[in-house]
Amino acid sequence: MKEISLHLLDIVQNSVKAGADHVDIRFHLDKDGVLEMGVRDDGCGMDEEFLARVRSPFTTTRTTRKVGLGIPLLMQNAMQSGGHVDIESKVGEGTDICAYFVTSSIDCLPLGDLASTMASIIMGSPDKPEFSIECSGPAGEMTFSTEEIRPVLEGVSLAEPSVVQWIRESLDEEIQPILGGIMK
Ligand SMILES: Nc1ncnc2c1ncn2[C@@H]1O[C@H](COP(=O)(O)OP(=O)(O)O)[C@@H](O)[C@H]1O
Ligand SMILES: [Mg+2]
Repeated sequence: MKEISLHLLDIVQNSVKAGADHVDIRFHLDKDGVLEMGVRDDGCGMDEEFLARVRSPFTTTRTTRKVGLGIPLLMQNAMQSGGHVDIESKVGEGTDICAYFVTSSIDCLPLGDLASTMASIIMGSPDKPEFSIECSGPAGEMTFSTEEIRPVLEGVSLAEPSVVQWIRESLDEEIQPILGGIMK
């Protein structure tokens, strides 16, 4: 994985597969340059025994491929920057994955194109779940949610190309001032 945004894509795909109705994404950049990337869902969750094993690359419920690498790779990249990953999960309630990246480290991945990644995530699951994103940092904060814009669209799909483009452009405009400094 070359960008933090691509990890987001992977972690959100887990939430979608877990049958979540809501996926809430948060990015927080603190004044010391530590970036928190959080993904919280209300999907099926994982029990404690599975959770203990999910941190190892040999745990997955997929049948097509023996090795689940999404979470282990996220952990590896967060740790390489001097950060870490916290995972909380309860069966029947959901999962909260929180990765910390030390963006001042030379070994930290760039954030990448977060607005385009969010637009792809929403386009890929236009009906369910509802997604929200919240970005904050020393320069300000923004929030966006599919639940909020759905009524404005009056039935037009979130996968409609013009809607996707509008989401990408408006997110980029709002995210750039907050997280633009760590995108490349
Ligand atoms: N948000 C989640 N909710 C429920 N189960 C999850 C969640 N995230 C991960 N898992 C479980 O952990 C496994 C490993 O995830 P991951 O490391 O991303 O590998 P992969 O997605 O390739 O299986 C998944 O197959 C799934 O069973
Ligand atoms: Mg995965």
